[in-house]
Amino acid sequence: MTETAWDTYAQQKPQRRPVNAAGETTWFNWTQYPDHGPGAEILGISPGSAVLELGCGKGGNLAHVATLGARAVGVDLSLAQLKAANARWADTAQLELRQGDALDFLTRCTDTFDAVFSVFGAVWFTDPARLLPAIRERLRPGGVLAFSQRPPVEGCYGCQASYFTRSEGEDPLVVKRWDYEPPSWTQILREHGFTDATARVLPAPAGSRKIGTMLVHATG
Ligand SMILES: C[S@@+](CC[C@H](N)C(=O)[O-])C[C@H]1O[C@@H](n2cnc3c(N)ncnc32)[C@H](O)[C@@H]1O
Repeated sequence: MTETAWDTYAQQKPQRRPVNAAGETTWFNWTQYPDHGPGAEILGISPGSAVLELGCGKGGNLAHVATLGARAVGVDLSLAQLKAANARWADTAQLELRQGDALDFLTRCTDTFDAVFSVFGAVWFTDPARLLPAIRERLRPGGVLAFSQRPPVEGCYGCQASYFTRSEGEDPLVVKRWDYEPPSWTQILREHGFTDATARVLPAPAGSRKIGTMLVHATG
């Protein structure tokens, strides 16, 4: 059911633009707004780093990480998302795409990563009580965990429902997500052994849309 929901989402979500406003063919975007917010520097990676993205979708951010000289591994539940990623980024050196659930992948994987990230990805859609210990197992000591997602609706915390609309006459598809305010995220991360945890809401760019982006960063 969850895989179907994300395959449906994949059909509704267009590919990333060929170039961004700066004329770059790859770039990193933590937010839901184009040409907005910080970039890959948040991950502290260098050539030769091993980096894992949980819920890589169509692979735009992951491809950028690969162009920085890192081994860039992406895992995603949705075959439709991964097909789109493969179609666009197949020629990118050091890019590895894996189909599956993020928690299953982390549990089976034996590699160690210098950074793990997720942009509106599997970290948002997996119970942190289960996912964070699995991430820590695979993150080298001192490695970076960073993720972004929409901030919670005030008063709606913990496990929430996301609905994907389909055609008229069909019920929406539902996936679970986990929403917390920034101070709760830093506390949850500390409880799971992460250090230097910070969580902040980046304001939306000027315009009619007002919802910012929560960006969370911690050290393993
Ligand atoms: C909102 S999309 C974001 C995709 C991408 N990170 C981006 O910024 O465009 C969420 C992605 O997470 C994937 N996903 C959700 N839950 C997952 C899980 N438990 N394991 C792996 N991937 C998951 C979905 O298939 C989808 O591609």
